[in-house]
Amino acid sequence: MKRKAIISGFSKLSREEKMEKMAELTGSAERIKSQLDSFRLKNKEQQDLLDEISENTLSNFYLPFGVAPNFLINEKLYHIPMVTEESSVIAAASRSAKFWADHGGFHARVISVIKSGQVHFLWNGKKDRLLELLPELKFELYRATKELTRNMRQRGGGIQGIKLVDLTGEMDNYYQLHVTFDTIDSMGANFINSCLEQMAQTMRKFFKYFEELSEEERNCEIIMSILSNYTPDCLVECSVECSLEELNSIHPGLSGREFAEKFLKASKIAELDVYRATTHNKGIFNGIDAVALATGNDFRAIEANGHVWASKTGKYKSLTQASISYNRFRYQLTIPLSLGTVGGLTSLHPLAKFGLELLGKPSAKELMMITAAAGLSNNFGALRSLVTTGIQQGHMKMHLSNLLNTLKADYEEKKQALEYFAHKTVSYSEVEAFIKSIRTKLQ
Ligand code: MEV
Repeated sequence: MKRKAIISGFSKLSREEKMEKMAELTGSAERIKSQLDSFRLKNKEQQDLLDEISENTLSNFYLPFGVAPNFLINEKLYHIPMVTEESSVIAAASRSAKFWADHGGFHARVISVIKSGQVHFLWNGKKDRLLELLPELKFELYRATKELTRNMRQRGGGIQGIKLVDLTGEMDNYYQLHVTFDTIDSMGANFINSCLEQMAQTMRKFFKYFEELSEEERNCEIIMSILSNYTPDCLVECSVECSLEELNSIHPGLSGREFAEKFLKASKIAELDVYRATTHNKGIFNGIDAVALATGNDFRAIEANGHVWASKTGKYKSLTQASISYNRFRYQLTIPLSLGTVGGLTSLHPLAKFGLELLGKPSAKELMMITAAAGLSNNFGALRSLVTTGIQQGHMKMHLSNLLNTLKADYEEKKQALEYFAHKTVSYSEVEAFIKSIRTKLQ
């Protein structure tokens, strides 16, 4: 197979030159340029800002920014911004939010807000000796990071603790400094990583110049220093609850009790079967990721975190729990969410900034509760459909609209297609044939 030529120095080329390079690989320079240009912002200042967020930027990649209204969370009403490419996500979130707004709303609480990071190092000495040195080492580590943590301490956060973890049983001479942080309203990745790198440097010097240590003990090999995206102590809980009678209106022909019992079985299946658990949790992240994107948060970190949490018992399970007790139905989501409402993209990206404004400029804790409510809402909506009508009824309406757009249907064609497919199964070939038949009739 012919290998494409390696491009050297791509990042140093101007945007025009980069587009020329792309054109060499994919076709007409003219077409590429006009396509990429058409998605750039007219406002130069804002476009420059977006260009500089990442490397080698050629254009903007648009995703719909929408709002799921009427989330009543702890008695306060929110209209939640969401960014998603999946057609049914905002519709499902809004439908569930509306239902729960009429039945007591979402009850949410932040359980803890601690994040952590580690300095991974090798030390070839006796563990007891290391433990002996630890108090002095910690003193030096706090002193060395004093300047870095000043602002955060003033805001009420900073380093919360430093612990030595012995992993020599897993790998020769391997220890960790496990450092915990409270980063208040920022996600805190840069803050945590800067503190850890400073600590690593200080620790290396601490051993190197400690006179009473043997030659061997003076050699502390730093492997790496990095925050952990697993934050089991940055945890939020969100639940909904109502009487079984209040569920009578959920689906015609199904009593509230019947619906709740079926819902419970579906929820139980997601606890015991990993195939179902994955899809169930994906539905939760449909909501969570959409809010994360709309508020400038790191959805990859959030996802990684949630999936590890879902495996905390050694088996991957659903992140939710359902129960029926004393005639009441309860559904709960507990999830670690490390979010920020200041710093990073939250203030840089104009729409993330707007998203946070729409939510009333929440604190990180408030955003944790809002985001969890969005996740629970999407998941409740999915299970509600799955145990009643099936998922395709709702999905197909949105799918049809996407297919019609792909086929470049005009207003009249769309109107006819919506009527025709109202009670029919939608597939690309069926829709294509239908649109072709209208177009042929008109010829
Ligand atoms: C689709 O994006 C999400 C669902 O598959 C979630 C679920 O099955 O619970 C509908």
